Amino acid sequence: MPIDFVYNRNRKQPGSGTGLDMLSPEETAKARNYHRGFREYAPTPLVALPKLAGYLGIGALFVKDESHRFGLNAFKVLGASYAIGRYLAARLGRDISDLSHDELRSEKVKKELGDITFTTATDGNHGRAVAWAAQQIGQKAVIYMPKGSDPVRLENIRAHGAEATITDLNYDDAVRLSEKMAEEHGWVIIQDTAWPGYEDIPTWIMQGYATLAVEALEQMQQQGAEAPTHVFLQAGVGSFAGGVLGFLAATLQEKMPLVTIVEPEKANCIYKSAKIGDGRPHTVSGDLDTLMAGLACGEPNTLSWELLRDYAAAYVSCPDYLAATGMRVLATPLKGDPVVISGESGAVTTGLLHLLMESEADKAVSLRKQLGLDSTSVVLLVSTEGNTSPRAFRDAVWYGEYNDQEKNRNKK
Ligand SMILES: Cc1ncc(COP(=O)(O)O)c(C=O)c1O
Repeated sequence: MPIDFVYNRNRKQPGSGTGLDMLSPEETAKARNYHRGFREYAPTPLVALPKLAGYLGIGALFVKDESHRFGLNAFKVLGASYAIGRYLAARLGRDISDLSHDELRSEKVKKELGDITFTTATDGNHGRAVAWAAQQIGQKAVIYMPKGSDPVRLENIRAHGAEATITDLNYDDAVRLSEKMAEEHGWVIIQDTAWPGYEDIPTWIMQGYATLAVEALEQMQQQGAEAPTHVFLQAGVGSFAGGVLGFLAATLQEKMPLVTIVEPEKANCIYKSAKIGDGRPHTVSGDLDTLMAGLACGEPNTLSWELLRDYAAAYVSCPDYLAATGMRVLATPLKGDPVVISGESGAVTTGLLHLLMESEADKAVSLRKQLGLDSTSVVLLVSTEGNTSPRAFRDAVWYGEYNDQEKNRNKK
């Protein structure tokens, strides 16, 4: 079976559900303004792929290319930097709107704050972001990675002066280890997921992620495009998807696009929660063994889950080969379209869109029809990372690994 999906028949209209205040236009503008104050800040490219859109039979296709974010090859720093900024603002008794990143970097503020150690668990991208953000302000970071993490990702974290180790735990247990170490040593945990009682920092992280969606809507307008009719968002714990979907719902209200949540089949906790359908988040345990390292999470962010439950149109569980298809499609564009270098977790939505428009398999046709994907659709995808694992990128794109016979069946 190429995919499994749940279509959300109980989708709410924005305004009548829960949790949208945290992603209101005012809150997300605050995060965006904070990001603008970074010397490294520039909106990442919004890449139009008109030839691919034509080939797939949709009206327009845009890919927000987060490999350019702050030179860190992934979107994650948007969350970590804003959460650390908000945390420090609170400690200093200041409003984030009046506190620039340059001031946070100053000796004066460092003296006032004293030494702080930030900690987190990560598949790579978030840890690199926390390490970078801590280094910027002269503070320490201790990072825990799940078993099987790519050593290149480990070295990229250490390059920012952090103490980082690959543990023998899965992602969710690495989160618990980081939490325990924070408690024992008085460290500050900057985790990109929420659980009951741990909500401020993940809220700020989700608000930080919304910056990329704020930029994307502006860029679509600048490029003379309509607002998107369909958005596909990949999910690990769902903070990224919740931040972007919540912003779109709060800002576009009844014009909000149909948002589809996309996960690896081995770590599909949001899909599983939607499928069980009792309104609560459910977990997936075990090794969470997927090519999509950034999405290998089995426990939903409890805040984000409520947004995804209420406002997403569909939840899709995907095999790994769709991520590899997406990497190849973006890396070898049709003539006239630009190249996008996208890693496993970045490219799965492209792989899924390709399947939905190309395949005549029952589930692909059914979801395509339910979402109303056709020649009038304006689709927005986010390539959330570049080739953060160069080995996995080469294996997929150069050597054609993670191929599956199934994907070659039922092509139009
Ligand atoms: C490249 C990439 N894309 C998407 C995600 C998913 O984000 P979340 O765990 O908030 O769902 C991650 C998370 O680490 C990631 O690294």
